[in-house]
Amino acid sequence: MPVPTADRISVITGDITEQLVDAIVNAANPSLLGGGGVDGAIHRAAGPELLEECRTLGGCLTGETKITKGYRLPARFVIHTVGPVWGGGHDAEDDLLATCYRNSLALAEAHGLRTIAFPAISTGAYGFPPARATLIAVKTVMGHLGRSPFLEKVVFVCHSDRSFLMYTDAIRELTQEATGVLGKGGHARQDHRHEQESTPADIQKQVAGQLQMIEAVHGIRFVNRDALAAAIGQGAADRRRVSVTTAALNSYVALQNLHGEVEIPKEVLEMILKKIREW
Ligand code: APR
Repeated sequence: MPVPTADRISVITGDITEQLVDAIVNAANPSLLGGGGVDGAIHRAAGPELLEECRTLGGCLTGETKITKGYRLPARFVIHTVGPVWGGGHDAEDDLLATCYRNSLALAEAHGLRTIAFPAISTGAYGFPPARATLIAVKTVMGHLGRSPFLEKVVFVCHSDRSFLMYTDAIRELTQEATGVLGKGGHARQDHRHEQESTPADIQKQVAGQLQMIEAVHGIRFVNRDALAAAIGQGAADRRRVSVTTAALNSYVALQNLHGEVEIPKEVLEMILKKIREW
């Protein structure tokens, strides 16, 4: 039985460079060559090797994410993302900020990571209104955890008591809202109906896209790709289960440290699909 979403989220006040998690997220700038704020703190704590690796990444677009080792940090990895600069809210800043969180979670899963810590991206030098950013961060993370059981813990690391209160309020409100919706039954059933409305073609398209992402992230090629796509398309009957299945495949590839031409054994896929059916 999956762990309830709210139990997989925690909020603390502290310094993200001290967090003992699989990955901490850096609020970087497009150069990825360091800066002030949390970016500066992470580079200082990680040591010069972090900058050396960042120099090889070719920068990062707003909303994009890139992963490096953590070096002298307690965290094993740093996921660098570039938040949107607040310009008044008319240039898709909300979507871009949500994309930072979504892509960071997906990249962590693609590397088989289980625990991740976020700062309040864009709310410092980039001027994003903190309350608005907090709601976006919590909504995006709760949405992802509700669809995927693979991340065990997401920690929001606040740098002030005010920020801590904003996050705890947002989590409480959104959890009650979700519970309320489930209690009424209406929306949840409607959401579920939306899930069932995906056509087989939608599902196949989603499967193909997610297999491509796994290949790109790990630098592999699935030798039995068509058989994989067909089995997942038939076995995971809706979009939600497709995401969960391919996230499990991601974790398998990451944990087995597979490279190059990869043939996923039939029994591995069967085991994943069986787990998803029971999920
Ligand atoms: N741990 C946790 N949170 C921190 C830390 C820390 N050590 N240091 C700062 N913060 C908080 C800030 O209080 C703020 O709430 O991180 C949040 C993000 O602030 P910034 O670091 O300024 O990041 P951002 O607003 O996304 O601006 C990014 O600033 O440092 C430069 O190179 C960076 O150009 C980029 C820009």
